[in-house]
Amino acid sequence: MKVLLVEDDPSAQEIVRDILKDIVIDIEICGRGDEAEALIRNVEWDLVMLDIMLPGKDGFQLLKVAKEVHKFTPVVMFTAIKDRENRIKAYEMGVDDFVTKPFDRWEFLARVRSLLNLRGSYQRLEETRNVVITLAHAVEAKDPYTRGHSDRVGEYSRKISLALGFSQEKAEDLYWAGLLHDIGKIAVPLDILTKPDCLTYDEYEKVKIHPEYSYKICQDLRTLQKVLPAIKYHHERWDGKGYPEGLKGKDIPAEARIMSVADAYDAMTSDRAYRKAMSKEKAVLILKEGKDKQWQASIVDTFIDILETEDEEEKN
Ligand SMILES: [Fe+2]
Repeated sequence: MKVLLVEDDPSAQEIVRDILKDIVIDIEICGRGDEAEALIRNVEWDLVMLDIMLPGKDGFQLLKVAKEVHKFTPVVMFTAIKDRENRIKAYEMGVDDFVTKPFDRWEFLARVRSLLNLRGSYQRLEETRNVVITLAHAVEAKDPYTRGHSDRVGEYSRKISLALGFSQEKAEDLYWAGLLHDIGKIAVPLDILTKPDCLTYDEYEKVKIHPEYSYKICQDLRTLQKVLPAIKYHHERWDGKGYPEGLKGKDIPAEARIMSVADAYDAMTSDRAYRKAMSKEKAVLILKEGKDKQWQASIVDTFIDILETEDEEEKN
């Protein structure tokens, strides 16, 4: 385990080193906030411990950086017992725990142990997610025409949800849903996925099973529960003519309504086995024509606004 201690008081440094000597393998001590910032940015620590008052940069500034760059690294802050205001501020900024000064050996050890356990859980979670992402990429690799599609759908979905006022967390879920929405295509035969001609009725029926397979693959992963509605219903249509369940209007989960716009736009503007990519203008026209039929009008409008703003930014 690699632990960073940011503390300018030499006697406190010694006490912490002594308390942790049996459980922490590698402890780095830094006495200045500005120097600690570089260490936090450049190294992935298993635990960061921050004093509040520091030369250079204070503990809150470092906490902000730590949560930006490695959000799965637990951060503990040192506070005085009556330091209610600082505790609230740190909680709001995402701190994982506090240790009160003067240090109590057993309290300190218990908290550090539990944070290192938390770190272990985060790492296992990331590993699980990485396995699923690898699987999603493997599915895309089956069909050269869809390479990069999931990632773009995830990005578009994230942008739309933020523009609609969803929280950062929800937007992040949408990104994950985008990455994984077509993972169920692993169950669709390759010759159907890459067929250069129109699909027969039976072939299309086989393609239509993929949202449910995507759902089945992800449903047992507890960390992916929140992305399931978007995955399962991304081929539903606003007018009720979609699949798998033919849900209509607002019966379709909002996440799926968002993702279906992102998915359709990216599919239209990418090459497919059976056709060349459409121009951006034509795809936007089709989205507009599909308002209140295939897609919710306000989501289409929001997405077109995003595309136009990006165009403007590119020109400038
Ligand atoms: Fe799909």
